[in-house]
Amino acid sequence: MLRIVPNAGRIGAFNVVGAYAHAGRCSSAYFARRTLATATDRNSVSTPPVPSALTQPDVVTTVNTQTGGANSKIHTGDWVLFHPVYSPEELRAVDVLHREATCLSDKLAANLVKLSRWGYDFVSGYKHKEIPPGKDMSLAELRKEGYLLDDKQWLSRILFLESIAGVPGMVAATLRHLQSLRLMRRDNGWIHTCLEEAENERMHLMTFMTLRQPSIIFRALILGAQGVFYNLFFLGYLISPRTCHRFVGHLEEEAVVTYTRCIEEIEAGRVPEWSDRPAPQIAIDYWRLPPDATLLDVIYAVRSDETTHRFVNHSLANLDVNHDVNPFALREPDMHTKGKKIAFEREEAESYLNETRKLFQTEAKKQSESDHSSH
Ligand SMILES: [Fe+2]
Ligand SMILES: [Fe+2]
Repeated sequence: MLRIVPNAGRIGAFNVVGAYAHAGRCSSAYFARRTLATATDRNSVSTPPVPSALTQPDVVTTVNTQTGGANSKIHTGDWVLFHPVYSPEELRAVDVLHREATCLSDKLAANLVKLSRWGYDFVSGYKHKEIPPGKDMSLAELRKEGYLLDDKQWLSRILFLESIAGVPGMVAATLRHLQSLRLMRRDNGWIHTCLEEAENERMHLMTFMTLRQPSIIFRALILGAQGVFYNLFFLGYLISPRTCHRFVGHLEEEAVVTYTRCIEEIEAGRVPEWSDRPAPQIAIDYWRLPPDATLLDVIYAVRSDETTHRFVNHSLANLDVNHDVNPFALREPDMHTKGKKIAFEREEAESYLNETRKLFQTEAKKQSESDHSSH
């Protein structure tokens, strides 16, 4: 598929493994192999069992070529969608922005986000307290008094929010997919962008999950929250898809606020546990980070993703959700636009789409000319 990516916005996955299905574990072969392995273990104590490739998630993400050094890896990727890749300038070109609601449904969406945020802060006991100027307190005292979060508190907050953030894109994609089947008409390129968002959010969760194994209570909380949120969003999207995209736009505004605050805290040395922490391998693979990347680099990349979701959802909410083409189906603006602008108005989306078509036509013309000259 031809995909033009100016300024390295997004690149296609190098998908050696390709699409695959999760193999069922109930096959008799699986149990036969398990029984054989157990019997062998009993008889030969010294030989450690060779783990099956099917039980190692890294097999489908990173192939270590065994030639030594951190660079000797081939990124394969079980993710078949597109990877966001950012230049260092793009990572820093993000502003905290807020869209003022003008119509009734937009006000409803903005207030629902405010309410959700308040509810979550209340339940989790989080208060954003500004440190009073001139107060000389140690890091431990600041944390004790509730002025600062420690690394575990940051992680709990992030893990919970990311487990919720992956829901809307998948619900929107599912409903638009079903609508396309049901009405036997094209979807105008929205499904793919929604799926991409859902996977991107899930990758945030997978990345941060490498830092901590949550407790059973935390998992139960997520289970309950997902059950409620999935169904509410599903119903909401059936009633008003436009309001739902606006809701996600505001939710992502909050995500940008949270990650900006987190970055500031780390850079100010207030989360020393994360200051020099290396990036998890899954993040290096996904965002194509350098081998010596740190957790801070990962958080910058995550914030850029949230900025993309903020921009895309607010822009989609400015369109006719039933008839307009998704202007971001073929390419997206880079972070210098998405980080500084809250959304495209409908007219801007139209001119961006026209620009994309021109770009593709020029590219196709160039290709056919080079094909002719090579023959
Ligand atoms: Fe996220
Ligand atoms: Fe997000």
